[in-house]
Amino acid sequence: MASSRTALPHAHDVVPVELGARRYDIVVGEGLIAHAGRHITERLGPRPLAVVTDANVARLHLDALMASLAGAKQMVPPIVVEAGEASKDFAYLERVVERLIEARIERSTLLIALGGGVIGDLAGFAASVALRGIDFVQVPTTLLAQVDSSVGGKTAINSRHGKNLIGSFHQPRLVLSDIGALDSLPGRELRAGYAEVAKYGLIDDAPFFAWLERNAASLLAGDRALRREAVMRSCQSKARIVAADEREADVRALLNLGHTFGHAFEAETGFGSELLHGEAVALGMALAHDLSARLGLCPPDDATRVKNHLKSVGLPSTVGDLRPRDWRTDRLIEHMAHDKKVKDGRLTFILSRGIGRAFITTDVPIDALRALLDDSIAAAARR
Ligand code: GLY
Repeated sequence: MASSRTALPHAHDVVPVELGARRYDIVVGEGLIAHAGRHITERLGPRPLAVVTDANVARLHLDALMASLAGAKQMVPPIVVEAGEASKDFAYLERVVERLIEARIERSTLLIALGGGVIGDLAGFAASVALRGIDFVQVPTTLLAQVDSSVGGKTAINSRHGKNLIGSFHQPRLVLSDIGALDSLPGRELRAGYAEVAKYGLIDDAPFFAWLERNAASLLAGDRALRREAVMRSCQSKARIVAADEREADVRALLNLGHTFGHAFEAETGFGSELLHGEAVALGMALAHDLSARLGLCPPDDATRVKNHLKSVGLPSTVGDLRPRDWRTDRLIEHMAHDKKVKDGRLTFILSRGIGRAFITTDVPIDALRALLDDSIAAAARR
């Protein structure tokens, strides 16, 4: 690994995730991929290393990462899987774990997950089962991974019965979020990741949401200082929630704001490129606020503000913003009923009493839910 002891050239922020013996830092800044070796050694000591990434990310960032790891104690040749959600399955899990074992990894080997949510989930799960569990480091390269999936230790592959149904809680030992990596992200993916940023403002940080209303356009256009601030504040929120409830027995469910609705639309569109996860979450958050307003829980002006903000950054906030389809309320509710967030046979929703005042409930009147979806679908059909 890099041996020079000169100061790391880029400023960065550090957000701790306070989980006792499993505590770790999220480092947010620029140049982190190029200096990953230094950050890893300084925090975790010299360790045998392995890297898992996908073919797209490898083209963009693998050389820089490998250069920073030059001189590592022992280096497994990088494991490069195909890009895309299809890699989150048993076959790829087997491939990654068997490659690690063939390379004679040890209990002390540190697995580096370089990529977006798919790589973080797959490599994290592989790390949790290889040799009954080895340490791993997340190096997220998408906005969605930087603000959500790389933090909190959820790892998973997909089952033929649904997404993320096979996995484990396995916390990383370090997260290195390189803001510079966002420069190479397609605009649509960046916006989809932004939905998860807005989510933190909507959950419990109204001043952050107001800050986003002022700054989202510049942030999305490429302002690195704003991106860094947004990633840092999102990670602070997620770290606080995860530290309070690591295994989602309680408040961590707030992170699912927009996800029950979103899941239904994603399932209906086949979890593919027609509707990205973040886009579905954006629509879901708008619908959750609409439903809250209909139930008299949330001021209607707040629901409108949410919708207007999402629309202003090019995210879907109504069914009419989606590609036209034969949407059916019954089918959407059916998808919700098969979501893994169902508890004791009841749908769990995150509703809101206003911007920054989200809460968890299993008491959503089905008639109100049905009426909201019927009206949204009818309005879409009139467009
Ligand atoms: N993405 C939701 C969570 O980490 O709990």
